[in-house]
Amino acid sequence: MGSLVSTSRFSEWPISSLSWGGLLLGASVVLAFADAQAWQDIYGHKVAGKRAGLVPGVKEIPKVREFYKSYKGQPDTIITAEHDGHARFRKIMGPGFSDKSMKAQEPLITKYIDLLIQRLHQYSAQGPQNMTNWYNWTTFDVIGDLAFGDSFKCLEKVESHPFITAIFGSLRHILMFGFLRKGLMFRAFAQKTLKKRIESYETRPDLIEPLLVRKDEDKYSFGQLAGMASTLLFAGSETTASTLTGVTWLLLSNPAAYEKLKAEVRSAFQSEDEIDFTSVNSLGYMLACLNESLRLFPPVAIGLPRRIPAGGATIAGQYVPEGTVVGVYQWAINRLSSNWNAPDEFIPERFTGDERFQTDNQALAYVEMRVILARIIWNFDMELAEEGDWLAKQDNHLLWRRRPLSVRLTPVQR
Ligand code: HEM
Repeated sequence: MGSLVSTSRFSEWPISSLSWGGLLLGASVVLAFADAQAWQDIYGHKVAGKRAGLVPGVKEIPKVREFYKSYKGQPDTIITAEHDGHARFRKIMGPGFSDKSMKAQEPLITKYIDLLIQRLHQYSAQGPQNMTNWYNWTTFDVIGDLAFGDSFKCLEKVESHPFITAIFGSLRHILMFGFLRKGLMFRAFAQKTLKKRIESYETRPDLIEPLLVRKDEDKYSFGQLAGMASTLLFAGSETTASTLTGVTWLLLSNPAAYEKLKAEVRSAFQSEDEIDFTSVNSLGYMLACLNESLRLFPPVAIGLPRRIPAGGATIAGQYVPEGTVVGVYQWAINRLSSNWNAPDEFIPERFTGDERFQTDNQALAYVEMRVILARIIWNFDMELAEEGDWLAKQDNHLLWRRRPLSVRLTPVQR
């Protein structure tokens, strides 16, 4: 079976088999596929039913419930919902991600990037900085503001919020005992921040606004709103912080690419205030660096599990029987020598000129990461302040439990 990576060799990867709620899935056969066709067949929804040979009426290969909904009674979110429910969530939440909304969100986001740069100037003189924390604090502050109406104030206080430490400091336990089981702590945060946002009746260009302006009969309960806000918080914080930390290490370990990116950023603008959501689109090499980093250090490195429905399915031309759990593991497919030349090397050039990626430019995550990275590179020369292979030391429990990344920052003299 050429397109199959493995059914059992997960232990060779830096990914805990618990990442698939391994205990819960224990009874299932798990197939990890490795080609683009399998990706379409397993996750595609527009024509998946037909293409994957599903029985008539079955529109897509369903999500594995035990993985997506860790306890009974948990309300659906955009991540957990199936076909029709999922489409409803997309319709409701979509307006918050339009180009127009993002433009309106720019000042909210820029405020935190300004503060990050200010803090880095302040603290860089004291010695090497832990970029894992700085990136975490920035992306959590941004998403706190966009999804809950107020930030976690990490950059302001220069410390992690206890809620973040509780959730992400114990990823392994969350996976074993249920995502968002730290409900009490979350509720305390949501009660305070989200409630204030809802009750203020202020019009504000954030990701919650489209949910609040719905007509009375469509209004959501506080619990539903908190569910949607927390989904955004989980989806949009750790992922971007992880990519930024990864790209920083990969660049500083690959001086030729770092120099090329520095030259691009520092020649594209006359002054720092020219770096904004629109102008970063001109940074083609930066986009290639981020894409190459997403390849080598994908924030969601596992394969998101789907269970073959009654009647079986055809994945990448191979028949797979009912009940089998299938997925495409990012980590594995991104490093297979059958998919890539020199798969373990950081070569951003492989993504330059690829038009498939140019259309993604406007996505919130890309814009946020590009402005943060561009402003850091504009302001500082960076140098690793630690030895060894940082990336190889990380372990994965659905998301990465990232270790500190120590970097010396020297302000650029102009
Ligand atoms: C580098 C950054 C990011 C990566 C790698 C990433 C990755 C992913 C992945 C793999 C999924 C699919 C989850 C599943 O189906 O089980 C997903 C879904 C989602 N992400 Fe992201 N994400 C990133 C940034 C963001 C940001 C900044 C936001 C904004 C708040 C966001 C919001 C969402 C939402 C709303 C979904 C559900 C989409 C749907 O099912 O239609 N993500 N993301």
